[in-house]
Amino acid sequence: MALQIIPVLLFTVFFSEALTLMCYDCIRADSECLNTENCTSQDEQCSSITTYIKGMSKNKGCTAVCSNESVNVVQIGMTSKCCDSDLCNNDAQDSPNKMMCYYCTDKNCSNTLGCKGDERQCITVTAESDENTTTTFKGCASKSVCDNTELLQQQQLLQLIGKIKSASCCGENLCNSVQSLTQGAVLLLVPMLPVLFSI
Ligand SMILES: *[C@@H]1O[C@H](CO)[C@@H](O)[C@H](O)[C@H]1NC(C)=O
Ligand SMILES: *[C@@H]1O[C@H](CO)[C@@H](O)[C@H](O)[C@H]1NC(C)=O
Ligand SMILES: *[C@@H]1O[C@H](CO)[C@@H](O)[C@H](O)[C@H]1NC(C)=O
Ligand SMILES: *[C@@H]1O[C@H](CO)[C@@H](O)[C@H](O)[C@H]1NC(C)=O
Repeated sequence: MALQIIPVLLFTVFFSEALTLMCYDCIRADSECLNTENCTSQDEQCSSITTYIKGMSKNKGCTAVCSNESVNVVQIGMTSKCCDSDLCNNDAQDSPNKMMCYYCTDKNCSNTLGCKGDERQCITVTAESDENTTTTFKGCASKSVCDNTELLQQQQLLQLIGKIKSASCCGENLCNSVQSLTQGAVLLLVPMLPVLFSI
């Protein structure tokens, strides 16, 4: 019996050594991150979380829990990436995808933004920045963010823009316009047309 266990042990030791991951490691870095760390056996992924609000900040390291998520509403943004090979949490830039979404500057939400990486949906977020002021943010988001917009309320980063009142996504180019208002106006006009013609 004991003899049979030895090969199993050797196998386990060999492979857990081999599986020990090495990741880039930094906290609140604003430029390149070159420091590395050897992960413990519980941490099976490297993560790279980039946030920006008035400047860029990168957090990287070994992690046990990680999700791929990305949202960009221009004034504020966050990208979280996970991967599982040595030093994979490098600074690879997300390349533009074909998606375009609206974003807002002050009260103007007619600006267009090209989305990147996994951000293949358009998002609209309204937040109450102080008691009586609601601000609308628009931009690009990944499906993982859109499938779970309740999670946005819990994200510390997004709470910096205020208390999130609503968040919604859509999946077509430039679909996050004030379309619902326009559609409402068009619907109102249709029943009026016969009236206009009868005059
Ligand atoms: C990680 O492990 C490698 C190989 O065992 C070693 O050369 C390196 O110095 C270690 N790095 C750190 C930051 O401990
Ligand atoms: C995150 O994305 C990377 C690269 O596309 C993929 O290899 C990895 O499995 C994803 N991780 C999770 C937790 O979804
Ligand atoms: C809003 O921004 C768009 C794109 O930059 C511009 O064409 C438009 O004139 C602006 N509208 C207002 C009301 O400022
Ligand atoms: C918000 O509006 C309420 C009622 O209109 C008012 O009583 C309150 O003072 C306002 N708060 C701020 C911070 O302006």
